[in-house]
Amino acid sequence: MNNLVNKEDFPLTKDLAYVNAANVSLMPLSACDVITSWQKNVAINGCLDFNDVAEETAYDGLRKEGAKLFSCDEKDIAGGSSFSELLNSVAWAIMPQKGQNVVSTQIVFPSTSFSWLRIASHTSCEMRFVKATDSYVKIDDIIKQIDKNTSVVSISHVEYTGGQVYDLKKLADAAHEHGALLVVDATQSAGAIPINAPLSGADIIISGAYKWLCGPFGAALMYIRPELQIQLQPGFVGFRSHIDMWDLDPQRITYAPSAKRFESSTMAFGCIKGLEASIKYLTDIGIDNIFEYNMVLANKLLEGLNTLDANIASAQEKEERTSILTCTIKNKDTAYIVNELKKRGVIAHKRQQYIRFSPHLYNNVEDIDKILLSLKEIIK
Ligand SMILES: Cc1ncc(COP(=O)(O)O)c(C=O)c1O
Repeated sequence: MNNLVNKEDFPLTKDLAYVNAANVSLMPLSACDVITSWQKNVAINGCLDFNDVAEETAYDGLRKEGAKLFSCDEKDIAGGSSFSELLNSVAWAIMPQKGQNVVSTQIVFPSTSFSWLRIASHTSCEMRFVKATDSYVKIDDIIKQIDKNTSVVSISHVEYTGGQVYDLKKLADAAHEHGALLVVDATQSAGAIPINAPLSGADIIISGAYKWLCGPFGAALMYIRPELQIQLQPGFVGFRSHIDMWDLDPQRITYAPSAKRFESSTMAFGCIKGLEASIKYLTDIGIDNIFEYNMVLANKLLEGLNTLDANIASAQEKEERTSILTCTIKNKDTAYIVNELKKRGVIAHKRQQYIRFSPHLYNNVEDIDKILLSLKEIIK
């Protein structure tokens, strides 16, 4: 199988098998250059280039690329500084009340549930965490927890530990049947798994930049279903929240009739431009192609792990698998294995008691061979 990308774009991959996108991905150098040159320009020229017009339109490019990523309209996309920032703004906008509940899972990344826990401490809404067994949650168990009092189903499209992926349409239909919203954390899926936001049925989809989107820290993007764009009042506001940000009347806010209303403040705009560039890099290759390529690598790794003394913790069903592959090695300490892999030029990650491998588009078959050979050596 040919490499999907030019190794020059990700120089570290020439020396190391970096299989850690679920933690921090590598970024194409071209996208990194966009950030540094933007920052340098502002450092040297102040507002000469980054003038009022440039500031007002700073997110427009991200909206364009985000629309390609999620197969939606540009006006459905908002940018922000982090996944958590955008989710908190959404959570305060929805603010489930006493008597209502929020459904999530026991294994969700804490950022996906903490915003709702904060709301619960304010309104006394109920939190329902669906039980997991060995890092796996049955989707039907999530659906069983949704009832007429459910305000929000808040899940991670792909669980960060085992890489289990949920069928968004199935969850969206179940949520909508009870008048609830489906709010999706796509931080572990966007960039690696094709997402057609309108067809998925999800009401809101948010992703940070620095994992599968190969972007920087300090940037994130969000999709909001059109009908909701005029209903929700952002939980966080700032001077950009007003429909005409240069109007500068401090006595009232009129929100834009689009996802843009969630863009509130001055941020590290260079990072937004870097995210725009990294999404363009990925969508030029095609997320379908990336998914297919990553799964070939993950399948080869799985096959190899099955011949070693590995207990696979990731989901086994084909439709629930992603290129996050998690395991333990019989009678071996995980921290020891991860450290020994690092000594041999393999960068994986320890999450809880597991070794987590997360190959992405810059990895190749030789990387997988290197992982398996190293593991054999370590556990012999
Ligand atoms: C599923 C998921 N959501 C969110 C985050 C992090 O959110 P933030 O970038 O806002 O800290 C992570 C980080 O590991 C994650 O795995």
